[in-house]
Amino acid sequence: MSYYEIQGGRPLEGTLAIHGAKNSVLPILAACLLVPGQCILHNCPDLSDVSATLDILRLLGCRVDRSGDTVSVDAGTLSRSGIPERLMREMRSSVIFLGALLARLGAAELSYPGGCELGSRPIDLHLSALRTLGAEIKEEQGALCCRDEGMRGRELCLSIPSVGATENIMLAACGCPGLTTIVGAAREPEIVDLQNFLQEMGAAVTGAGTSTVAIRGGLPLHPAEHRVMGDRIAAATYLCAAAAAGGEIEVTGVEPGYLTAVLACLEEAGCTLHAGPETIVLASSAPLKGISPVRTAPYPGFPTDCQAILMAALAGGEGATLFVENIFDSRYRHVDELRRMGADIQVAGQAAMVSGVGRLHAAAVRSTDLRGGAALVVAGLAAEGVTRVSELRHIRRGYQALDENLRTLGAEIRLLP
Ligand code: EPZ
Repeated sequence: MSYYEIQGGRPLEGTLAIHGAKNSVLPILAACLLVPGQCILHNCPDLSDVSATLDILRLLGCRVDRSGDTVSVDAGTLSRSGIPERLMREMRSSVIFLGALLARLGAAELSYPGGCELGSRPIDLHLSALRTLGAEIKEEQGALCCRDEGMRGRELCLSIPSVGATENIMLAACGCPGLTTIVGAAREPEIVDLQNFLQEMGAAVTGAGTSTVAIRGGLPLHPAEHRVMGDRIAAATYLCAAAAAGGEIEVTGVEPGYLTAVLACLEEAGCTLHAGPETIVLASSAPLKGISPVRTAPYPGFPTDCQAILMAALAGGEGATLFVENIFDSRYRHVDELRRMGADIQVAGQAAMVSGVGRLHAAAVRSTDLRGGAALVVAGLAAEGVTRVSELRHIRRGYQALDENLRTLGAEIRLLP
């Protein structure tokens, strides 16, 4: 089982171009199913979640090619509407194929994506919205059999601004004649990127980035070429790493305005930040200070995907910070691993009180999930001694070349078999 070996205490210096966004490219790859013909995506990150998605597209009958960070998907040969359970379980977000398959084929058979390391991951909002549009969805022994029974545009209201449900409805609505309006939509930047791609395909989608998204469906669509936006969560990860380890880094290829909440926390913790068009520079020279409570929230609030990463940086600083995780019901699994490194973190329900201990010490720790694993790397970069991080499969889901990128910034990190 491979692991990272990290010699802590090396300050980070240099510039890093951030790879394409996992949480943007996944729904955009599903959107390629909407049209017969070849779509071309640039800045497509090399991640295991992306590989799993490409495998699903191939299994459905699409022609998929990859050359560097450019991926082409030709859904002209789409021949199946069913996704086997083993692939559905491999990646929870494969539920995003539901809307696109209904729009293109009028049918979809897939299993429940199942929970994951963050706790239960229900899809009730996805299913109720698609039923409101006119889909018939039968649930039998964990499998979903979906049929277009006269789907038409409707007004839909989401009780939670679910990112995935918003995206699924946008894709399904492209195949529904009439106007679909999503009230209470999620506002994440990745949804704007999906809208941009759909517009490039000829779809009439507007409002992404606000809480009301409108789709006029049933229009003829054509293949498109698109550059995927930069991964704001990956950018935040490297910034938190530099904040914790010290030094000065620049990340490029990400819109600073998409990270306002995170940058505010890092500045309050004592970092110096400068932002320019698609660049963020962070300098950190002193132990991080405790900051005002960090409450995760839907965009533009503090992103839940950065909770573990910021916590790891602050755990080795000074002062106390209260975290409140409001999005997922089990997103503190990294806490026990940080405690192995000397972190002082008290968890009570959705709240976690982090008391900075001045500096963490090295330990052998295990990734528990994607962002929890990245958090352990952040902690190891600043800790005293040599930290080993295992269970790297979680990290590979969402970070391209994490150890290589950190080495280019001066970190002493090795991947051992
Ligand atoms: C997306 O997940 C992201 N994944 C997550 O990133 C991210 O943490 C999350 O949005 C929140 O920003 C991708 O985009 C592939 P939600 P998603 O639906 O769509 C509840 C990462 O680390 N809910 O916005 O699954 C749900 O349980 C991953 O990159 C329902 O109750 O998240 C959660 O509590 C982790 N019923 C809340 O809504 C539903 O039908 C927000 O979930 C759907 C969701």
